[in-house]
Amino acid sequence: MASSFSLNSTIQLVILFAIFSCLHFSIVTSSHEFQVGGLKGWVVPPSNDTDMYNVWASNNRFQIGDSIHFKYKKDSVMEVGKENYNDCNATQPTFFSNNGNTEFKLDHSGTFYFISGASGHCEKGQKMIVRVMIQDVHPKSSAYHVSVFPIGVFEIIFVLGFVASYLI
Ligand SMILES: *[C@@H]1O[C@H](CO)[C@@H](O)[C@H](O)[C@H]1NC(C)=O
Ligand SMILES: *[C@@H]1O[C@H](CO)[C@@H](O)[C@H](O)[C@H]1NC(C)=O
Repeated sequence: MASSFSLNSTIQLVILFAIFSCLHFSIVTSSHEFQVGGLKGWVVPPSNDTDMYNVWASNNRFQIGDSIHFKYKKDSVMEVGKENYNDCNATQPTFFSNNGNTEFKLDHSGTFYFISGASGHCEKGQKMIVRVMIQDVHPKSSAYHVSVFPIGVFEIIFVLGFVASYLI
């Protein structure tokens, strides 16, 4: 009885710990910075690739706290509502920048709509929808984060509870 308890509980504790380590560093992932459009930056897309920004955005996973950087010349970035995104209506942006190197912080989950404010650019496809997940389910940071971040209080309580349930 005693020996089977220690073997089983040790194995289960190790498994439990592994699970919590994974959970833990998926929650504490550091924020990421994205360059919109990669090396091309924020430009009018080529006429055979007008959907390039939404293709780029759908190939990335954005989380709360991440930031996206727009690099451009003689252009601008606007965040607009869904309707104004569809219509390329640049009259009432909720965010505007034309400094050539715009950082936009994705500070909440949901959908963000961006268009170029330069005349005619949005119509040619210089527009992008970014969807921000509520929470990542796959850890994307590497394993050394486990040692960087201390074990959370909840994990300790849970593991202690688990041990206690065996001892009682
Ligand atoms: C668009 O055309 C260019 C040059 O003709 C070509 O290199 C590129 O692969 C094309 N892109 C797509 C998405 O078809
Ligand atoms: C652009 O959007 C605003 C409201 O966001 C609206 O009042 C205006 O009529 C729209 N302009 C066009 C050309 O649709």
